Amino acid sequence: MTQSYLGSNSITQAYDAWTQDGVLEHFWGEHIHHGYYPDHRWWQQDFKRAKIELLDQLTRWTKLKTIHDALDVGCGIGGSARYLAERWPNAEVTGVTLSPAQMNRATELTPSHMKVSFKVADALELPFPDSTFDLVWSCESGEHMPDKEVFLREMVRVLRPGGHLVIATWCHRSEPPALSAAEQHRLQRIYHAWALPFFVSIPQYETMANAHPELIEIRTSDWTTHVRGTWPHQIWMGLGDLPWLLRQGWAVVRRSLRDVVAIWHMIRGYQQGSIRYGVIHARKRDTKCPG
Ligand SMILES: C[S@@+](CC[C@H](N)C(=O)[O-])C[C@H]1O[C@@H](n2cnc3c(N)ncnc32)[C@H](O)[C@@H]1O
Repeated sequence: MTQSYLGSNSITQAYDAWTQDGVLEHFWGEHIHHGYYPDHRWWQQDFKRAKIELLDQLTRWTKLKTIHDALDVGCGIGGSARYLAERWPNAEVTGVTLSPAQMNRATELTPSHMKVSFKVADALELPFPDSTFDLVWSCESGEHMPDKEVFLREMVRVLRPGGHLVIATWCHRSEPPALSAAEQHRLQRIYHAWALPFFVSIPQYETMANAHPELIEIRTSDWTTHVRGTWPHQIWMGLGDLPWLLRQGWAVVRRSLRDVVAIWHMIRGYQQGSIRYGVIHARKRDTKCPG
């Protein structure tokens, strides 16, 4: 599944710039992903704590028990990689990102006692042999992939038999009616603002996973109602920290204004049901130990 696309260079440039100006890290901390709001009341939650809650929910939902070698595909500045290393201190965790600035910042933020390392690499051409990792994890990088099938194929390739594949990603609605022109336009505005080629639906991910006979126990879930509070919460946080934002200079303020427009489209897209948040879990069949 490919469509017209901005190109991986623009993703690299975007994340390099977002890392260097520090705004994303200022507000989101080390986790560049949605928060999880169990009771939907975002105004009663801590913005950064909600992001950890998403990872807690994800590891619970996927019933991850023990891991030894994990790959974090699209690792940002390493929030998930360090989270996994804290939960499983014996595990070796490798993170890949397209952005050299993210790789450097991820390395800087990682205590030396952790067995965590980062690489600049393309998820569509992972520089690892087949069957290397017993956990392949992608938290909110799938929406950046210009070819979702290759993205999945690469992750399945490097996954070890018996291992877990975990994906959390931005999607669009699948149920009828088909997305209207206005909904498509809204999505285009979001794609353009944040270097996203296109979304697919949660059932499309499931179909793609089902095309891999080596994947078993494939499950998907729609977590939209639990995560959509992230965006009004972000606006609230931004307003509370407006003086800090204004001190960052005109270029940052201009970009933040553009982000506010994209955030508005996220809020409306979630409200109208055109944007969905999907989680996918599967295991790779172990021929020595079926199921
Ligand atoms: C929204 S951030 C998520 C970061 C991180 N997973 C987290 O939750 O904090 C998206 C990440 O995907 C990475 N990414 C996008 N396309 C990629 C690709 N083709 N190969 C590797 N990383 C990619 C970006 O560089 C960025 O690190």
